Amino acid sequence: MTSKGGDVIFLLFLFLAIFKSILGQNWAFEINKDASSIDYPRDSLSNFTEFARNYGYTAEEHTVITEDGYILSVFRISKGKNCRGRIRQPPVLLMHGLLQSSDSWLDAGPSAGLAFLISDACYDLWVGNVRGTYYGRRNVRLNPDTDAQFWNFDTHDMGKLDVPAIIDYILNETGSSKINYVGFSQGARIFFIMCSETSGYCDKITVSINLAPAVRVKYTRSVPVQLLARFYAVTEPLLSSPRELEVLQKGGFIQKAASFFCKDSVLAGTVCRTALALIDSYDPDSILTQTIRVLFGHFPGGTSARNLAFFGQNAIAGRFQKYDYGPSKNLQVYGTIQPPLYNLNRTNIPVVLIYGENDLLVDSKDVQWLSTQLPNLIEAYQVRRLAWTHFDNCYSQYTKKTIFPKIHKYLQNYSKEGSV
Ligand SMILES: *[C@@H]1O[C@H](CO)[C@@H](O)[C@H](O)[C@H]1NC(C)=O
Ligand SMILES: *[C@@H]1O[C@H](CO)[C@@H](O)[C@H](O)[C@H]1NC(C)=O
Ligand SMILES: *[C@@H]1O[C@H](CO)[C@@H](O)[C@H](O)[C@H]1NC(C)=O
Ligand SMILES: *[C@@H]1O[C@H](CO)[C@@H](O)[C@H](O)[C@H]1NC(C)=O
Repeated sequence: MTSKGGDVIFLLFLFLAIFKSILGQNWAFEINKDASSIDYPRDSLSNFTEFARNYGYTAEEHTVITEDGYILSVFRISKGKNCRGRIRQPPVLLMHGLLQSSDSWLDAGPSAGLAFLISDACYDLWVGNVRGTYYGRRNVRLNPDTDAQFWNFDTHDMGKLDVPAIIDYILNETGSSKINYVGFSQGARIFFIMCSETSGYCDKITVSINLAPAVRVKYTRSVPVQLLARFYAVTEPLLSSPRELEVLQKGGFIQKAASFFCKDSVLAGTVCRTALALIDSYDPDSILTQTIRVLFGHFPGGTSARNLAFFGQNAIAGRFQKYDYGPSKNLQVYGTIQPPLYNLNRTNIPVVLIYGENDLLVDSKDVQWLSTQLPNLIEAYQVRRLAWTHFDNCYSQYTKKTIFPKIHKYLQNYSKEGSV
């Protein structure tokens, strides 16, 4: 067995979805009829700057180097195409979820993608990427293709090193002394890890808005995600080559197959929609077929086996705790047999939580628990649309009505109009 085991589970569900949809309708004929369906939608092949430019937005590309040498591409839309007023301060940093990238904030298009909406609301928007994604697959010393050490990281390192490096970079570049933070899922997790594990960085954030925060994951109901994470929790210590330690990367078999099949409108609206719903949950018509055609050009975007294992460990333990090396090494590393908990009570800045009742990856029970652990919670907001799922936060066509007003309200309250 190798890391391909995770892929096998994923494939199993894809095939299940194909079967389900074959029973319902005969779409094979339609594919042949529609010659243009052979082509990939332009946006699915675009990187961040190209995607933004496709819609008349100007994005800058920046390079951030972490303390331990990871090279991360970070993008900036300093003024949204539809921003009519002055840019508000401080800058906003938007962080993606597990297996996603900065591009996930564009995939829903200019009327729904949060990168478009936030920049159009006149914020100086920075969109980050973490190590292990296709925008974070470089290191000044380590080669991701030959050095196993490159893949020896999980969300602990992203919170302790990636986010602080990005924040320092933004502050230096803009001359601001603060930023505002918007994180989704893993992007929220690494914010709380940063506050627990560094000193001074939490204070550089005025308000932190967290969508479906994957912090404690005790009640995660998604079967494929549970299987994948628990599979790696068991097998990760046995893996040794970079090929096995890199998981679900862009350009890998799963991503290539998914983008190939899902570029077709008919398959996107049936098989691919079902596959997404099997990983997450159903929210009928929320994610446009066009968005599904595009998003698999950027998803899955890669991470380490260790990162998935870490999620699996946390799910099994039902605790928001550090990586579990096993009792004897834990004793060496932490001085305790059990891995220590992260200190959520060190997150003393204003925090907003936004979550959905129909999210099978980050259960509302875990978010409610999180809300009781935070010393400076401003609001834990349950999205009114009861069918709101995990993926809806980035891919729904309804973000402008469901979550953006909340995000905007708090960004606005914790910022002021700039002078330029
Ligand atoms: C994105 O695409 C542009 C134009 O093709 C290219 O110049 C740039 O290097 C790409 N950036 C990244 C991070 O891939
Ligand atoms: C800070 O920004 C300046 C340019 O604005 C640059 O020359 C310098 O290298 C930056 N420092 C760091 C630590 O990024
Ligand atoms: C903060 O949380 C940690 C871990 O849960 C706990 O050990 C510590 O006692 C807490 N500190 C305070 C001041 O509540
Ligand atoms: C708005 O921000 C101020 C601090 O700048 C805070 O005291 C106040 O509670 C905030 N209001 C809301 C509704 O969050």
